[in-house]
Amino acid sequence: MKLFITGGAGFIGSNFIRHILSLRKGYKIVNYDKLTYAGNLANLESVAAHPDYSFVKGSICDANAAEEAMRGADAVVHFAAESHVDRSIYEPAPAIDTNVTGTFVLLQLARKLRIERFVHISTDEVYGDMLPGAFASENSPLQPSSPYSASKASSDLLVLSYVRTYGLPAVITRSSNNYGPYQFPEKFLPLIITNIFDDKALPVYGDGKQQRDWLHVEDNCRAVLAVLERGRIGEVYNIGGLDVEENLTIARTLLRLIGKPETLLTYVKDRPGHDRRYALLCDKMEKDLGWKPEVPLETGLRQTIDWYKANAKWLAGVRDGEYLSYYEKYYQNRDSSLRSFTHRG
Ligand code: NAD
Ligand code: DAU
Repeated sequence: MKLFITGGAGFIGSNFIRHILSLRKGYKIVNYDKLTYAGNLANLESVAAHPDYSFVKGSICDANAAEEAMRGADAVVHFAAESHVDRSIYEPAPAIDTNVTGTFVLLQLARKLRIERFVHISTDEVYGDMLPGAFASENSPLQPSSPYSASKASSDLLVLSYVRTYGLPAVITRSSNNYGPYQFPEKFLPLIITNIFDDKALPVYGDGKQQRDWLHVEDNCRAVLAVLERGRIGEVYNIGGLDVEENLTIARTLLRLIGKPETLLTYVKDRPGHDRRYALLCDKMEKDLGWKPEVPLETGLRQTIDWYKANAKWLAGVRDGEYLSYYEKYYQNRDSSLRSFTHRG
């Protein structure tokens, strides 16, 4: 089976490629990635010379290049995206281009090249805020809040329209917040871990009581593989860690595990439009595909801390000039930078 994976040089995609190569024989993988600031071939160093793996640099928005790389593939697993909510607020165009137009380009190619299975990787953010105590099922309405989540919801609707109208054999996964090795440190969990290492302020948006469902990336990789191999065409599958926690609880747990004081916690101006709570019902994954999350949160957090400690060279490589100027603009000068984004200033 030849597998065309988009965005395989990013956090989840690179974990998925290593996962599949370590578990399955008979898959030939083409990793197609534009290598944006978030894409990093160092994430794949351990498999770069594997005989069943190859890399092609290109954008999913470039139909000709994507077609050439996709030709001969049996299945597509589509991870590529502009994945950071904050960046989509600061500069929405890349999220719309890649997440909406790029997905459209791939869907057209999948029809043309008669792809046998198209797995579209989406997110729980498409459901928007959940009320306290409420959980989203696969049938909940789509109510995205940010340009990122709106672009992902748009791409989900495009995928579902291609299933219905053209009979494209596609399935969708919607997962919660992943964490684990190789996550770019713009995201909350690795940002907090790495700032704790450096005794730097831990930026908590607003009151820190927003809730997220935390899922270890290995659990997500097992789920995506199950959906690829056994998911039913046209279906959507929620994938969550079933562990919904407040951001403050996560930051405090990380401080305790690393052994640093809570005085590092620093409350900063909130993200515009910030969703309060995400929470998923994942019964369908368990009932239909026999999947449930296996990594307990505290175990996963300990392993993740250990990984970042052991991979200082990788970390230094990604906290480069682009990251440092991003950090300075949106953290050190946060109030003035954010003021310019909202309509009322
Ligand atoms: P990431 O930002 O770490 O990686 C994204 C990858 O896509 C990078 O390698 C980047 O170079 C590549 N890419 C971006 N634009 C591209 C383009 N135009 N053409 C080709 N490649 C391009 O993202 P991630 O956290 O690994 O997320 C992967 C997928 O999972 C995304 O679709 C995201 O929406 C979804 N998702 C992520 C999470 C999470 O917690 N990280 C949760 C739910 C869903
Ligand atoms: O829920 C799935 C989504 O999870 C994915 O679709 C996205 O690709 C992924 O980035 C993630 O989105 P979030 O916005 O939930 O993740 P992020 O790590 O940016 O933030 C997690 C929470 O922590 C959120 O409530 C905002 C807060 N936060 C984040 C950062 C970066 C802070 O308080 N301080 C920070 O510095």
